[in-house]
Amino acid sequence: MANEIKTIGVLTSGGDAPGMNAAIRAVVRQALAKGVSVKGIKKGYQGLLNEEIVDLKRSSVSDIIQRGGTILGTARCMEFKTDEGQQKGADICREYGIEGLVVIGGDGSYRGAQALSRKGINTIGIPGTIDLDINCTDYTIGFDTAVNTAMQAIDKVRDTSSSHERCSIIEVMGRNAGYLALWCGVANGAEDILLPEKYDYNEQSIINNIISNRKKGKTHHIIINAEGIGHSTSMARRIEAATGIETRATILGYMQRGGSPTCKDRFYASIMGAYATDILCQGKTNRVVGYRNGEFQDFDIEEALAMKKDIPEYQYEVSRALSM
Ligand code: ADP
Ligand code: F6P
Repeated sequence: MANEIKTIGVLTSGGDAPGMNAAIRAVVRQALAKGVSVKGIKKGYQGLLNEEIVDLKRSSVSDIIQRGGTILGTARCMEFKTDEGQQKGADICREYGIEGLVVIGGDGSYRGAQALSRKGINTIGIPGTIDLDINCTDYTIGFDTAVNTAMQAIDKVRDTSSSHERCSIIEVMGRNAGYLALWCGVANGAEDILLPEKYDYNEQSIINNIISNRKKGKTHHIIINAEGIGHSTSMARRIEAATGIETRATILGYMQRGGSPTCKDRFYASIMGAYATDILCQGKTNRVVGYRNGEFQDFDIEEALAMKKDIPEYQYEVSRALSM
């Protein structure tokens, strides 16, 4: 099909995620290979409204595939939630000759993409978030790096926890989603895994579990607590008071969002970036790229946002069985 689009834009929006740079690189290189030029919009929708727009050449994306964060920067922009903001954004795109836009981010960012699409700028979303909480896709860019970073940190906490015969509560990110916690819980062999989707707030049963494990001779007790439950420090105080076992809380925080992306994140980001560019250049709009049932696909944004995804029941049951 002949290219009708001559120039596209790319931006990153919402929380940064390792692999976003690989996605930017793929968008730029795939577009240039088709004879389409690319403009990078800095700091998400805020940068669009501030006209922070730069030309991206082949060399602009050299030496970034291995870097965490996003070379374009990212931001949250309240003004873009208003109709005036969205109209201004679409007008700026037209002014700069940006006929189509690839938006790398999460659900909120897709809402912005949808708004631009309604204002006549073609848009395609790519799932970029460490939280894995985008319903239309089994994979989100950044999850693999974040979960491996967290897993390695938890192994380290476990060493010191065992030496001191302490109980450790380790809080992982994920906003309201428990995927990071579930994966770390299983991969780190945690004794308790608290997921926002499942936790019944029965702290007494955790306390009983700690006491019974200690009686069996376990020297450590690792509790993975999801950010969506939070309050790890006060939980630690209550558990220490109830069990008499020294208990410490560690909140892993932003270290989970940084760092060089894993091979998996670089690979998925590269394929998704190229795929988004392909469909944008075919004239598609208001779509999100996803990886589902073993293949890369695209979905209508409204449909994608309406899809439901939960913690897989079997995985949850296994996580419970293995922690006994
Ligand atoms: P994420 O994309 O990771 O879900 P946010 O929810 O913070 O992150 O959304 C990122 C940005 O997308 C927001 O700061 C805002 O600029 C834009 N956005 C979010 N929701 C909407 C909306 N309903 N309409 C237009 N733009 C939105
Ligand atoms: O969406 C990624 C994420 O790191 C969540 O896990 C976390 O809840 C949130 O972003 C933190 O956002 P901020 O960077 O605004 O503090």
